[in-house]
Amino acid sequence: MFQSAFRTIYVASNTAVCRGISLCFRHYCKKNPTKLRISEAVTGAEVGANVTVQGWVRSVRPQKANLFLHVNDGSSLQSLQVVASSELNHPLLTFGSAVEVTGVLKKSPNRKQPVELEAEKIHVVGECNPVDFPFKIKERHSLEYIRQFPHLRCRTNASSSLLRIRSEATAAIHSYFKENGFVQIHTPVITSNDCEGAGELFQVEPSGPENAEEENFFSVPTFLTVSGQLHLEVMSGAFSRVYTFGPTFRAENSQSRRHLAEFYMVEAEVSFTQSIEDLTKVMEDMFRATTEQVLAQCEEDVDLFHKHVSPGHRATVDSMMKKKFPVITYSEAIDILNRSSQKFAFPTDWGCDLQTEHEKYLVKHCGNVPVFVTDYPYDLKPFYARDNRDGPAHTAAAVDLLVPGVGELCGGSLREERLGLLTTRLEEAGLADTYSWYLDLRRFGSVPHGGFGMGFERYLQCILGVDNIKDVIPFPRFSNSCLL
Ligand code: 4AD
Repeated sequence: MFQSAFRTIYVASNTAVCRGISLCFRHYCKKNPTKLRISEAVTGAEVGANVTVQGWVRSVRPQKANLFLHVNDGSSLQSLQVVASSELNHPLLTFGSAVEVTGVLKKSPNRKQPVELEAEKIHVVGECNPVDFPFKIKERHSLEYIRQFPHLRCRTNASSSLLRIRSEATAAIHSYFKENGFVQIHTPVITSNDCEGAGELFQVEPSGPENAEEENFFSVPTFLTVSGQLHLEVMSGAFSRVYTFGPTFRAENSQSRRHLAEFYMVEAEVSFTQSIEDLTKVMEDMFRATTEQVLAQCEEDVDLFHKHVSPGHRATVDSMMKKKFPVITYSEAIDILNRSSQKFAFPTDWGCDLQTEHEKYLVKHCGNVPVFVTDYPYDLKPFYARDNRDGPAHTAAAVDLLVPGVGELCGGSLREERLGLLTTRLEEAGLADTYSWYLDLRRFGSVPHGGFGMGFERYLQCILGVDNIKDVIPFPRFSNSCLL
């Protein structure tokens, strides 16, 4: 029954669909239907036009005289209602099948939608056996369920809304940086350095036995980048304001709801900084500008999340957008945690790294809005962080942005621009030779500078209220899983 031999074109015997349109125009229209995206068709601007739409069937309702379909092509959350004579019904017209429909756009009698397409012709382009198809008509599948089908989940409303939002947020981030005079740099994916020094590297080597003899393809060990920061620092020495936005890789053996082995990071680097506020301002402005654009351009898609995935989250987003992000020091954060009546699983002594449970508590404590934590213990931060030289409670000029529901969203710092201090730190870590080029940046026209990185998937989790990071990236990669 579901063989392609059955695919065919059904032409309505009833041509009454063009009633009221002059013969001559009808002839022209029929010959030249305009191809419309569903997002264009549903606006109602083209009422009366003879059009062709293409997409996938989201619902099929055969009635005695008429057949009702909803067709979606991914251009918007809305589907277009198609009304056809029941003569056009066919067993291959099923939920999930791909169709091309030609007909006339009419004002809809139903107030839910401004227009519907009165079909003359329905062509099943690709059939879909509804019994085998993992998604069922009228069912609202959970994010956990659809996650099992990374090759098909983009056909669901939740996943397609998410991907449109992701696309808009990407554009918004690029707009923000463009409007603020940043130059985009394509930092390399393959690198010979470990920027964060945390050892969470994926090594890069050619595959195949013919390469087994070779020591290293690049003559040095190479890795997938954990951060484009060091390459951005190179460029900030010529362009003052630079950014990069690309895939980043960490071999973290984690199954957590906020870690991936491959994630996208937005990183910016700014020269001639005077204080950490020069960085917090960029982080906050970028967050606001991006979120404003997403909320304005993807209203329906965002609503789907705020209504069905994380009810109540819209109020949190509105409050984030209204209030200025507070700033506390790490030492103040430790005081807040130690004064709390909550029992934490991890220690909260000065010098400890903040854990997710601490970050979430601090966000709640500060009014459930994003909060900057600055001046972390010097020993917790990588070699590049600027020494505050502030005595026994020795700190570095580093900053994290913690956000509701997620915890750490951004990590950044002023960079150590003083040649002497940086040389000593690299020598102590045994890295002075590896980073001789980095020291050169301090030898030739060194300026105070700093930057940060924002996890793009965590940003999406934060504004949409999505609990699991695997649900905000098209093809999640994490330990023991690399589907497709
Ligand atoms: O705090 P991180 O490690 O900072 C850096 O890599 C700096 N070199 C960035 C810079 O200053 N240019 O990572 C930045 C952000 C984190 O705050 C987090 O949001 C995200 O990247 N992140 C991850 N997101 C998903 N999965 C992971 N495994 C992540 N690790 C970090």
